[in-house]
Amino acid sequence: MESDHSGSLDQLTQHLLHNPLIRFFHTMDRRYRDIHLKDLLASAMDDQRRLTVQGTTVYNFGSDSFLGLDRDARVQQAIIDGVTRWGTHNGASRAFYSVQANEEAERKLAQWLGVEATLIFPSVTLTNMGLLPGLARRGDLLAVDRLAHNSLHEGAKIAHDNGADLQVFHPCTPEVLQDLLHSRPYTQCLVAVDGVYSMQGTTPPLRELDQVTRAHGGVLYIDDAHGTGIFGDHGRGTAMRELGTLQDVIMVGSLSKAFSCLGAFVTCTEELKPLFKMASSTYVFGGPVPPPYLEAICVVCDILMSDEYEAISARLRERIRLLVDGLHALDLAVLGHDSPIVAVLVQDRTRALQAGKWLFDHGFYVQSVAYPAVPVNASVLRIQVNANHPLQAVQGLLEALGHMRKVIELPKASDLAEGDGFTVQLGESL
Ligand SMILES: Cc1ncc(COP(=O)(O)O)c(C=O)c1O
Repeated sequence: MESDHSGSLDQLTQHLLHNPLIRFFHTMDRRYRDIHLKDLLASAMDDQRRLTVQGTTVYNFGSDSFLGLDRDARVQQAIIDGVTRWGTHNGASRAFYSVQANEEAERKLAQWLGVEATLIFPSVTLTNMGLLPGLARRGDLLAVDRLAHNSLHEGAKIAHDNGADLQVFHPCTPEVLQDLLHSRPYTQCLVAVDGVYSMQGTTPPLRELDQVTRAHGGVLYIDDAHGTGIFGDHGRGTAMRELGTLQDVIMVGSLSKAFSCLGAFVTCTEELKPLFKMASSTYVFGGPVPPPYLEAICVVCDILMSDEYEAISARLRERIRLLVDGLHALDLAVLGHDSPIVAVLVQDRTRALQAGKWLFDHGFYVQSVAYPAVPVNASVLRIQVNANHPLQAVQGLLEALGHMRKVIELPKASDLAEGDGFTVQLGESL
């Protein structure tokens, strides 16, 4: 019996190895085994944003906890108190029942953002893959930015299978969107974009995209996973900063990144909220964020709404400025400039992996990102700045980069197009 079983799994293994994407990853994995810092296993992390992997301790520039709230005693205590109050999990889909902490967290999120209502999901991925297909059906147009996050594309594919007209557009400019919306018939139109591109830290032109979308009677759906808690007044996000209001858009925010808790939320009206619940398969058929994390989300909302937010945000901005200025002084090609995600363009895959390994060996973890996460030949070193990085860690990283480029050649900014030109180049080479 046992051998039959393993035989069929062997067959499945071979079958998966013929999947082109898996075969590609598998080949890369073997080719770059010694320099590919993938699937790392951390044995320790500390308040100085250090990470220990196989006995090596490095400064971690690969964390989404941009505000450093994962180490905040109040947030940690809220989780501990939440476990005492609710247990580790309430163990039921919210379609059956929610806990009070859920209502409270959604109310606080709405208060913080100045919107009528919010609805919490277990992750941004589950929001995009559950809700997006629920919003667009046969006769509807769903336009998705080609460079948007994978989960928007996966959600859009489900919508397409359900009959929606899916159109992927690129580059993400108001002109291209205008032409697209003008050229297709639809009953309802939804335009889905990222607030911040997660690998590059850059932002699409949300204001102009929103204008075009509205002019065509559509609704802009913004996945602002990396803008939540970072941009705009009191960290209300990229859409709030660019549009000044969230009244007539759908914004999805993350509770797992700057919030340092778990989950995601979508903004809506009181009237839409029950409809969003009914429309989303992952809401109805999946489990919720465990109650202790909901208690922590309430505490983070209080911090974001308080004057303290400005101090935390100022610490983060000081570190971003220090890093970006230092990278410019090194004449490196930098993508993004005000987001805590700062990408250094390397272009060549092997060199990006070598650079990541070199930095790791010299005390700094940054992420080497290559195709398919970014376009071919647009590999980057993705550096994530956190408010609780010691300043000397940022300075140390800059010094290390300065030494590294004597050993590993990186493109010079002065040899490439300026500023946003890099972004255009990235998009075009996809
Ligand atoms: C734009 C964007 N959307 C969604 C996600 C996934 O978020 P989650 O981990 O909550 O599923 C990410 C993760 O980095 C992201 O950058």
